[in-house]
Amino acid sequence: MICLQDCFTGVSKNATFMVANLRAAFCRYLTVTILVLGVVATTSVKSNTVVVENAAVSSRSMLASEAGVEAMRNGGNAVDAAVSTAFTLAVTYPSAGNLGGGGFAVIRMPDGKVFTNDHRERAPKNATRDMFLDEAGEYVAERALRSHLASGVPGSVAGLLAIHERFGVLSRESVVAPAIELAREGFELPADIARQFSSRHEWFQHIDSTRKVFYKEDGSFYQAGELFKQPDLAATLSRVSEQGRDGFYKGETADLIEAEMSRGGGLISKSDLEAYESVWREPIHGRYRGYDIHSMPPPSSGGVLVVQLLNMLEPFELGELGFHTAPSMHLMIEAERRAYADRALHLGDPDFYPVPLDTLLSKRYARSRIENIGATATTSDDVDAGSIPKEPFETTHFSVIDADGMAVAFTTTINGGYGSGIIVEGAGFLLNNEMDDFSAKPGTPNMFGLIGGEANAIEPGKRMLSSMTPTIVSKGNRFILITGSPGGSTIITTTLQVILNVIDHGFELEEAVNAPRFHHQWRPNSVRFEAGIEQDVIDELSAMGHTDLNRLPERFAIGDANSILKFRGSITTTSDGRNEGGAVGF
Ligand code: GLY
Repeated sequence: MICLQDCFTGVSKNATFMVANLRAAFCRYLTVTILVLGVVATTSVKSNTVVVENAAVSSRSMLASEAGVEAMRNGGNAVDAAVSTAFTLAVTYPSAGNLGGGGFAVIRMPDGKVFTNDHRERAPKNATRDMFLDEAGEYVAERALRSHLASGVPGSVAGLLAIHERFGVLSRESVVAPAIELAREGFELPADIARQFSSRHEWFQHIDSTRKVFYKEDGSFYQAGELFKQPDLAATLSRVSEQGRDGFYKGETADLIEAEMSRGGGLISKSDLEAYESVWREPIHGRYRGYDIHSMPPPSSGGVLVVQLLNMLEPFELGELGFHTAPSMHLMIEAERRAYADRALHLGDPDFYPVPLDTLLSKRYARSRIENIGATATTSDDVDAGSIPKEPFETTHFSVIDADGMAVAFTTTINGGYGSGIIVEGAGFLLNNEMDDFSAKPGTPNMFGLIGGEANAIEPGKRMLSSMTPTIVSKGNRFILITGSPGGSTIITTTLQVILNVIDHGFELEEAVNAPRFHHQWRPNSVRFEAGIEQDVIDELSAMGHTDLNRLPERFAIGDANSILKFRGSITTTSDGRNEGGAVGF
């Protein structure tokens, strides 16, 4: 191993103090501040961690986690639990749980075999390369994010049914049942979701189908604790339960989607829906300090980048350099700069573009990429490509493990919070705005400030590049870490930090998840730090040549890494303390 200690004259004297400080600060109860479209509300939430012996789920919604655990108590396995959790999230966490979006599942069998299911949305067959450009050739964000054109062909239902059919042991009806009941009978609306509905009034009030679902008949807001029912969504879920994929991709639901599209000038047709299939893909596999890393391959960039980043960082003694010291953070930022530059050029849907996977994943390539990392910062480019979005990046990740050690890392999204904002009239679910994840105009950043090129240009039937990084890290069956996150471009660096915090810094899972995070993505040439990172360290990074260093206000969080760690027979499940959530097990 290379030890860079000597290269750095400015090793933080504060490192030890900081780690101690951090351990004290991130204890079981956290105060987090949640930003919802400019409305700031401070809430005390439990940093939810449970240690159990058999099986566990960690997700953004307590009701969804409970549905998953119930499936396993009833004799189901981790896949039954994941499917039940995902359908329930579509009801209880509408900003990112979904039927109208897409996602990825990484599934590890007790014998160590790993499978991945790609149910990412696809561009409709009538999509065109320049559909989000105006006559002057300029990118029109409103069209790519908040119109009927913003939606790709949804993949979630196909993917969930495919993984259930292949690996589940319970009936389809029983895994969908909790979601149907919660949609039909209603549930007490949590305070954070009630706030999300009311703070989005300016947006939703203009969309009839959406206003009818998220506000009461007289137009007033639901209050926290009031019963929230979604009868149209219950009917759609019932069709899926009874008819399988035909209950969504054909018949009444398909009719409703097509009618919504023709009302709003969208492109998704019944033939697009009928043609949609999820894809089983070869997982990304890497090795890091003796651990196996399994993650999602393209069309996600997540797995490739996490392995590439770990390969670049492996030669350095991060543990010795210390947690959140300027030298260790410098190395991470420099590695991120290189990996995200590769993302922009080389990554896209492998069914349409020859992604150079072997090279990107090789340790030799990683070595060549870090050759010019020294004691001071390199620069990304002269041109900062875009501004940093201020809204929370939605998408949601959950983790599951069962008593046999079958593990599922599952990340799902409708892209932005509440997707396009358009609920399919009569079907009760939101449409995604995932088309913005294509590079609509090479060199122009999308909502995450990410830039892309030819590899990720819009083509009919193509899947847009993602950053979702559902990941399982294992060492035989003695150590199984299941993690991932929402957060657009920050998903990858969040996942990386959870892994490094556990492996290199030896943190307990709860501490690894709740530790403050930072993020860099090549362009813009800036680094964002959560508020918990000490200003002294940021000043040291500045002295090393890093520029545009932004310490985020308290209320801005990076990621929501609902994770599970099985280690020496005991299972720790933790829902990220930055948000409400549910870590449940038995
Ligand atoms: N829509 C966020 C992602 O897939 O990366």
